Amino acid sequence: MTTLGVFDSGVGGLSVLRDLREQMPGVHCVYLADNAFAPYGERDVETIRKRSSGMAGYLRATHHIDALVIACNTATAHAVDALRAEHPDLPIIGVEPALKPAALLSQTGCIGVLATRATLNSDRFARLMAHVRDQSPSEMRFVCQPCDGLADAIERHDSAAIKTLGQRYLEALWRATPQAHRIDTIVLGCTHYPFALDTLRACCEPAIHWLDTGRPVSRRAHNLLTQAGHDLARSAPLMAPKFITTGDIATLERAALRWLSLDASAHQACI
Ligand code: DGL
Repeated sequence: MTTLGVFDSGVGGLSVLRDLREQMPGVHCVYLADNAFAPYGERDVETIRKRSSGMAGYLRATHHIDALVIACNTATAHAVDALRAEHPDLPIIGVEPALKPAALLSQTGCIGVLATRATLNSDRFARLMAHVRDQSPSEMRFVCQPCDGLADAIERHDSAAIKTLGQRYLEALWRATPQAHRIDTIVLGCTHYPFALDTLRACCEPAIHWLDTGRPVSRRAHNLLTQAGHDLARSAPLMAPKFITTGDIATLERAALRWLSLDASAHQACI
């Protein structure tokens, strides 16, 4: 049996788990949510690194995982290098805001990026943005908007707060866009945000393209596992994931039911 460890600060990584299960139905996923410490996006770098290291270490110590997916842009931005150094023998797949696909898709060359403050402030994100700009044949403009509180509102499934914050940050995005330019593509640079997509979409003109990273990440995980010799037939029977949280069990169970239609029991771990 192939086992994949997946972690996020909370319930956002379920948007990645959804694609992982679609891509690799026969893989057993162990999903670990750091609900007790969510959200990561407004925390200091040292805390994000320490929590990420604890999450990866726990998954490794308690399960025989064949690879690890960091289903969190914020943890990837600040901790993926350290985690790879700590676990040199483990394939580790991170997520990063989908700037490359956005640059290929955008007709106007003007792209909005919604992400956590910690992701947008990271060196890794600055390097990614510079790289995509350098590689693009035409000029690319990224308008970046930190969305303080939005991941937390999604954690709490607080529809009113999601709507208020979504409107506020999209308005800020339009205000920050230079007059001669028009955003036609918005990158959801946090794995929580796909769960607010309907609300965000309702605040915008319908022609906007919305991009998240679930699909490319699951393709990457599939490729890495296949290269390592795992047989990942798409026709394999769908495996039920295991859910673990450092925080409130009911929060994770309700989110798994709401978004993945999975009526599962979660366990609590002290990490
Ligand atoms: N879902 C995570 C991300 O992709 C973290 C959000 C948060 O905890 O602030 O960045």
